[in-house]
Amino acid sequence: MRIDILTIFPKMFDPVLNESIIKRAQAKGKVKIYVHDSRDYTLDKHRKVDDRPFGGGSGMVMRPEPIFNCVEAIRRKAKKAKIILLTPQGKTLNQNTAKKLSRLSHLILICGHYEGIDERVRIKLADKEISIGDYVLTGGELPAMVLIDAIVRLIPGVLGDKNSLNFESFEGNLLEYPHYTRPANFRKMDVPEILLSGDHNKIEAWRRMQALKRTKARRPDLLKQ
Ligand code: ADE
Repeated sequence: MRIDILTIFPKMFDPVLNESIIKRAQAKGKVKIYVHDSRDYTLDKHRKVDDRPFGGGSGMVMRPEPIFNCVEAIRRKAKKAKIILLTPQGKTLNQNTAKKLSRLSHLILICGHYEGIDERVRIKLADKEISIGDYVLTGGELPAMVLIDAIVRLIPGVLGDKNSLNFESFEGNLLEYPHYTRPANFRKMDVPEILLSGDHNKIEAWRRMQALKRTKARRPDLLKQ
């Protein structure tokens, strides 16, 4: 998979892309990630990425020109990209969407900013608009990182243990069962005995029951789906 990111804050991505599983996925050749500074695609001498809104009002609007220029430059080399705009107005991200996107070969992520982005970017370029939740952040950079993390870990071969994907939260619309590790007794708190029994059928049944109970208590909406 290839991911291109358009942003006015490219440095924000360094720590996230150069650590942990996302770093390893790139080293293994599972994903190639390119960060583009929108300012490099401006044509004026002040390298302006925003301007005042037509019709007046407070705040600034991101100019369409650098975004169109950058997308066109990427598309000249790679034609099949799906373009995603990160915006609080988009469809809320969930595991199902992450899974679908993880099967695509090329994504271009556009990070919005300021009061908004020129509507022509949305109309003409965006194939999909994604929000990471019903709250407003200062820009689309953190949402883009969240989306990349959610997608990259689903690319086959990125996570070592295939089973860890099968039993995690939201798989089959259930939250995850509780986990324990050594020691079996910690500050007078015991690990549930069944987990020490070695009976794998019973353990699996216990875990499924715990996952169901937890989902019913915390996220009954998931069970209805
Ligand atoms: N930009 C600002 N807030 C956002 C959100 N919640 N999701 C996606 N992009 C955003």
